[in-house]
Amino acid sequence: MRDEKVIFAIAGAGPAEALPLDDGLGARLLQRFEASKGRMVVHSGRCAISDSGELSGVDVIIAHRLLESAADDALVVTEAAQQELRLPLEHFSKSEETFDGIGSVTTYVYAPFVETLRCEIKREYAEVATNPAKGFHFHTGRKLAAMLGYTDEMLDGIPESSIERLAGTGNPFALGPLHAGETVVEFGCGAGMDTLIASRMVGPAGRVVSIDMTPEMLDAARAAASEVGATNIDFHLGYIEKIPLPDASADVIISNGVINLAPDKKRVFREMRRVLKDDGRLQIGDIVVQKAVPEGAKRNIDLWAG
Ligand SMILES: C[S@@+](CC[C@H](N)C(=O)[O-])C[C@H]1O[C@@H](n2cnc3c(N)ncnc32)[C@H](O)[C@@H]1O
Repeated sequence: MRDEKVIFAIAGAGPAEALPLDDGLGARLLQRFEASKGRMVVHSGRCAISDSGELSGVDVIIAHRLLESAADDALVVTEAAQQELRLPLEHFSKSEETFDGIGSVTTYVYAPFVETLRCEIKREYAEVATNPAKGFHFHTGRKLAAMLGYTDEMLDGIPESSIERLAGTGNPFALGPLHAGETVVEFGCGAGMDTLIASRMVGPAGRVVSIDMTPEMLDAARAAASEVGATNIDFHLGYIEKIPLPDASADVIISNGVINLAPDKKRVFREMRRVLKDDGRLQIGDIVVQKAVPEGAKRNIDLWAG
């Protein structure tokens, strides 16, 4: 056994592998990642290396934890490895992972499929926001609200601009009302219909934190909130995979047809667990499949955006 500082990579379920650092390593790793279409972590740190080349040690454990939490189709490069490899950062997004007993680890994440998918989904919802009457291959507006069981009382006083831009799969309030004073997180608030219903239910002592990744939708939601004078809503442009709230701070998470659009559901569920108080609730309308989705379908962007 010898102890050395090395660059190493772990892909899929395989063992960690030490890599000789030379000028071409960064490019070779990117090629390998593109060819493998899996998840991969690259780290630079101290490892114990056995005679048979097996790696162990705290740094390898960190890399395994990163691999577990990485999205499918993601190349995760730790800050330490990036300093040595100098990969082209324009393809990467900076991220941070916090682990019990380890602390926080800065990473650079390259996830081409996830990015393409997000762009397509944003494009579709930007179209709903800017051209709601266009006609989509999913239901929208008042007709959908009636199909999902929103009552006249719920919709009363909600701006038509929000109602006509509604898209979704299930009414989160069908699972019960929200209570005065509660802190609510809304996933994918769209043009704000569910946000405004929630805002009225929790009242001035409550708070609604509404997250959406599509700027055009968020603009519409903000305009609707100011139209009705709602002051208990915080809007955030961002992803439900990274909720802008501290641990154990939310009483309830509501969502209407958004989790099915997130490529990395495991990460979304971890975030839900993190921000919910111990007695917190989920009120979610979404799509549930009863059979495993074939790999080919998972990579079909039209099926995601549709
Ligand atoms: C089906 S609509 C939700 C409708 C909304 N609740 C309402 O009241 O109109 C889906 C919304 O989720 C957003 N979205 C999809 N995936 C997201 C993600 N990963 N993070 C944040 N927002 C997302 C879309 O931009 C879109 O506005």
